[in-house]
Formats: sequence, structure tokens, C-alpha cells
Amino acid sequence: MSNLIFLDNGATSFPKPEEVYRYMDHFYRNFGVNPGRSGYDLCMEAGLVVEETRKLLTGFFNGTDPDRLCFGYNSTDALNLIISGMLRPGDHAVSTTVEHNSVLRPLYHLRKDGVDVDFVPFDGAGFVDPEDIRKRLRPTTRLVIVNHASNVIGTIQPIAAIGRLCREAGIPFAIDASQSAGKVPIDMEAQFLDVVAFTGHKSLLGPTGIGGLYVREGIEIRHTRAGGTGVRSAVRAHLDEYPYRLEYGTPNVMGIAGLKAGVTWVLGKGLDKIHHEEMRLAGILLEGLRAIPRVRLYCLDHLEDHIAVLAFNIDGLDAADVGTMLDVDFGIACRTGLHCAPLVHEQMGTDKIHGTVRFGIGPFNTEDHIRAAVRAVEKISSLPIKKR
Ligand SMILES: Cc1ncc(COP(=O)(O)O)c(C=O)c1O
Repeated sequence: MSNLIFLDNGATSFPKPEEVYRYMDHFYRNFGVNPGRSGYDLCMEAGLVVEETRKLLTGFFNGTDPDRLCFGYNSTDALNLIISGMLRPGDHAVSTTVEHNSVLRPLYHLRKDGVDVDFVPFDGAGFVDPEDIRKRLRPTTRLVIVNHASNVIGTIQPIAAIGRLCREAGIPFAIDASQSAGKVPIDMEAQFLDVVAFTGHKSLLGPTGIGGLYVREGIEIRHTRAGGTGVRSAVRAHLDEYPYRLEYGTPNVMGIAGLKAGVTWVLGKGLDKIHHEEMRLAGILLEGLRAIPRVRLYCLDHLEDHIAVLAFNIDGLDAADVGTMLDVDFGIACRTGLHCAPLVHEQMGTDKIHGTVRFGIGPFNTEDHIRAAVRAVEKISSLPIKKR
């Protein structure tokens, strides 16, 4: 691998643990067949890995029934299933301005069909007040859907408090755990969660193209697609029972195998330990960036209830130009722009200046990487101010 310093872990984690690469290679060479469709040994073995991964993830989210853990392509896929399968014309939903486009766009899409949506803003520090959500609930509210950890400003929303108030009001509560799964605990019971959407390729350290959702018993998501399930082929309607209800066609078995290896690695290391080390590095990064006069930080007064995702700009420079310089001149990969979360930038006013630069720290970053990033930003910030 090159000497690239990868600080774009908010987009996807890179590299993956060696164990993930090795297990995926082993699995696909030896068992890479269509699982659960036939009775020969290889097919049974592949099916076993799928079922083991369901169990592993069900335990990971403290769910109770592995059949209610459904695999899809990624969290965008899962969030679309949730939003289109839980809302109907005339319904009302509550969400927030912290959301990614994979929540915003499916909701906007349904607005055209007569679904009403309220987006609750975050405060100056980047947090949504659960009481603001409570105030938006109506008799027609059928879903509250909230981003657990922001992919722009890194803030972790108080999902347990939101979950509790939704449970009291009898309204289903779903979270987008794209950034949080694999970084901080997610607990269906303790946090009063009804549905969790996750993606495999970020902090769960699996490959791209695998993700899914866990649906608590008693919560109904209609199937909005139909197709092969591998079982009961003579039935004309798509199957109602989980996990088939929300799974369509041949699953990404290689992705599921990689996800199994990734989650196993995370559990072996310990969620707390990974998060603690990432936040230690985030602390060094924050301190370094704060000391640079032209650096403007967003929602970073403190790092409490944050994941290691930090957004900043250098006064007088375009975020995209800073990103290019970090890449070309310093070999540092980051992400710039609106990060698929336009309402966050609208609220911070950064939409008018082409967004922000984002550093996302992962489990394979080191203190040297962070110090190199601070030195690079310092150097870039010594360039003359560009007229916008
Ligand atoms: C908060 C959040 N939600 C949803 C997504 C979408 O994830 P995926 O592209 O894996 O579906 C992302 C990815 O950047 C994200 O950060």
C-alpha cells in the first residue's frame, strides 16, 4: 500500500482488518454458492455463514430474534425499505436536519405522495433536543427516524431519550446507524429502538455492498419489492415472514462473510477500546486544529457525545481546494463538500461556501497520521486568502 494517510473513514473504513480480506477470500473460494437455495453441502455451508452472521448482528444490537435481522446492500437500501414500508399517504413523520440524503431523499420522495414530514433542527453544538421531537408528534405520526451519529459534525444524538418518548407515545422509532454501528453501543432494549439501519463497510469493517436492518418484534414494515426468496416458490405474493419479507433475490454472500469477519474483529478488540482510541486521536486533532488561527471548526466546542468525525474550514480557502492540497501535496485523503447531508450545511451556513473539509478517524489511524494532518493544515493555512 502507498504511504497515503487515510482520514476518510467517514465515507468507508480503509484498510479493513487482515482477517476480513483473508476470510472473504477463503469463504468465496470454498463456499461461494447461492445459500439456502439447495440441499447440497456447499449450499448448506454458505447458508450457515449467513445464519451465523444474522445471529452475530442480532446479538450486536441486542435484538432477540435473528430472523428479524434482514440483509440488504447498505444502509441506503435499508432506510428506503423502512421509509417506504412504514409510511402511507396521509401519514406524518418526524426526522431531523442532521440526516443524510439516504433518509432525506426517501422522505422528500414520499412528500409528493402526501406524506407530511417535520425536520427538527439541531442546536448550536450539533445536538437534537428530544423535547423538540416530542413537540412535533401528531395523532398521524407513524415514524420518527433519526441519525444516530452525524457523518459531518460527528455528534451522537440522544437516541435513548428519543426512543423512550416514542415508545411512550406508541410511535415507531428508527435510527440510521451508518456512522455509529461499530463505534458506540446500539441496544434495541436499553435505547427503546424499533428499527436499526446499518451499513457494513464503515465501522463494522466489512466490505461495500452489504448492510441491512433489524426490526423489533411487533413492528411491521410492508414489503415494497418482491422477488425470489429461495423458499416456497409456488406462493405468488412475496413472503410475509422475516427475514424473507425484506430480503429480495440472491444475497451478497461474500459481503455477509466479510461483515461477519469485520464484526468479529470489532468484538474481539472491544467497541469501547476502539472508540476510546479514536477519540484520543480526535482530541489531538482538535487541539492541533484549534491552535491554527485561520481554522474554523464546526460543532466542536467539546468531544463529548461525538464520534471521531471532525468538520472544519480554512478561512478564505475553498473546502475542495483544501482537500485537493491535502491529497496532492501531503498524501492525505479526506472528504470535502456537503457530505450528502445538505441540511446540516444549510443550518451551519456552510452550504454557501461549498461545505467543509471532513476528517474521519478509523481504527488503523495513528498519532503520526494525526500530527501529519495538523502540520498539513497549518501549512495550507499559511497560503494567502483567496477572494470567494
Ligand atoms: C449518516 C449516514 N447515513 C447513511 C449513509 C449511507 O450509507 P451507504 O452509502 O453505505 O448506504 C451514510 C454514508 O455516508 C452516512 O454517513
